[in-house]
Amino acid sequence: MNGLMACAIAAGVAAAGASLAPAAALAQPTPAAAGSLQGDPVRGQALYQACGSCHSIDDNDIGPKHRGVVGRRAGSVADYAYSPALRNSGLTWDEATLDRWLSNPSALVPGTKMFFKIGDAQKRADLIAYLKQQK
Ligand code: HEC
Repeated sequence: MNGLMACAIAAGVAAAGASLAPAAALAQPTPAAAGSLQGDPVRGQALYQACGSCHSIDDNDIGPKHRGVVGRRAGSVADYAYSPALRNSGLTWDEATLDRWLSNPSALVPGTKMFFKIGDAQKRADLIAYLKQQK
């Protein structure tokens, strides 16, 4: 699953014309203290293509819409059918919680219905920088 995902992300980055990290770096989980890496929103936008099979900024799809997600309570888009686990998680999305979520959603919120991980800490930081801009 990690391998597949790394391919999907690599494809997204290649399509956007950004430079590719070595494949090994993509495949290896790199847990990092949240906030220790500077995120690049332009790279994050390219990486967001991997989220686009389930999410968009302004419309609910398989996953909830993302506009305004940084700073909002988890599970709080009114017209999206969340899992009870996420709706009742009591989390608020900020850099730290989003970093943990994207590393492994079910580790942060057991019972969630999002099963998609980003193993690379720099890519998580880039994605979060992009999401922060989608106010
Ligand atoms: C295969 C489908 C799928 C992919 C790919 C996916 N997600 Fe999700 N995501 C979901 C689902 C389903 C939920 C709702 C989870 C729940 O209710 O437990 C969700 C929820 C979320 C939430 C919580 C939002 C809220 O309103 O509380 C965030 C943040 C999120 N996803 C970010 C991302 C990002 C960033 C990516 C890309 C790196 C991504 N997701 C890729 C399916 C996906």
